[in-house]
Amino acid sequence: MDKILGIETSCDETAAAVITEDIKVLSNVVLSQDKIHAPFGGIVPELASRQHILSISYVVEEALQRAKISLKEVDVFSVTQGPGLVGSLLVGLSFAKAFSYYFNKLLIPVDHLQSHIQAAFIENREILFPSLALLVSGGHTSLYFLPRKLEYNLLGKTRDDAAGEALDKVAKFLELGYPGGPVIEKLASGGDPEAFHFSLPKMSDNSLDFSFSGFKTAALQHVKKSRLKKEDRRCADFVASFQMAIVQALISQTARAVKELKPRSLILCGGVARNKLLRNEFISLAESQGLLAAIPSAELCTDNAAMGAALA
Ligand code: KG4
Ligand code: ZN
Repeated sequence: MDKILGIETSCDETAAAVITEDIKVLSNVVLSQDKIHAPFGGIVPELASRQHILSISYVVEEALQRAKISLKEVDVFSVTQGPGLVGSLLVGLSFAKAFSYYFNKLLIPVDHLQSHIQAAFIENREILFPSLALLVSGGHTSLYFLPRKLEYNLLGKTRDDAAGEALDKVAKFLELGYPGGPVIEKLASGGDPEAFHFSLPKMSDNSLDFSFSGFKTAALQHVKKSRLKKEDRRCADFVASFQMAIVQALISQTARAVKELKPRSLILCGGVARNKLLRNEFISLAESQGLLAAIPSAELCTDNAAMGAALA
């Protein structure tokens, strides 16, 4: 059975994975750069690409070792071609191109967003079509209609910040740490999600687009005005309410899309899909419509190379 080595360096994770032709994951190695970017409260592109150069050989070697194969035994290479940070993408692309050229093996470039959606198919072979996919990451927030396998029709996307970006920025402002999504989720678990009110954005043209900059600005203004600090008791209530507002905005647009397009299954993917509140609300929405919700396990939600290899 053919083996695919996938490489992913679109953002701030250096990742490599080996999977079989029938999409069995033999290894999935991700080396996070979170510690490098944490002092800046966000990704510094130049540091990200430099770190990819330092990490990539080690990560690929580790992926091969865990899969118990040698480089010569790889039949196909896959690599993320975009979207992403140009300098970061270049490292993975150059590496994969060199391998493919040297070993004279096929190289399949993959789209990062389609790879995130494909992550849902790794553990779930029963996804019915047409399907509706909500992709929520640090750089993107989009709804796709999938009439059949490997066909992606964009229904709506964020007009400003991505949901993960809004979480990251508010966390940075409150000096909670980076990435913001997981730290907000942890702090929010001890807070009251109804303590603060954030009004949901309404698209005047009834589109299925999203908008998160209004939430973010309202949150930042409140933090400034009330001089809210991370040590305050009210901070847990505040971030719980902020997290709830973001989840409600995501779910309400998805629910509208479900009504309009009547899919037979729902997919949730991207880094923010690790969030338990979002996962639970998404499952509730699917169940209320009698649909299956396919959500990748946590390690397949955030950036990894298995999803790209699966797409390839
Ligand atoms: O998909 P991803 O790894 O990278 C991009 O392609 O953007 O997503 C990263 C995003 C970050 O904004 C991070 O804060 C968010 O995913 N994230 C979460 C959680 N874990 C990661 N957001 C909410 N709750 C989480 N548990
Ligand atoms: Zn991603």
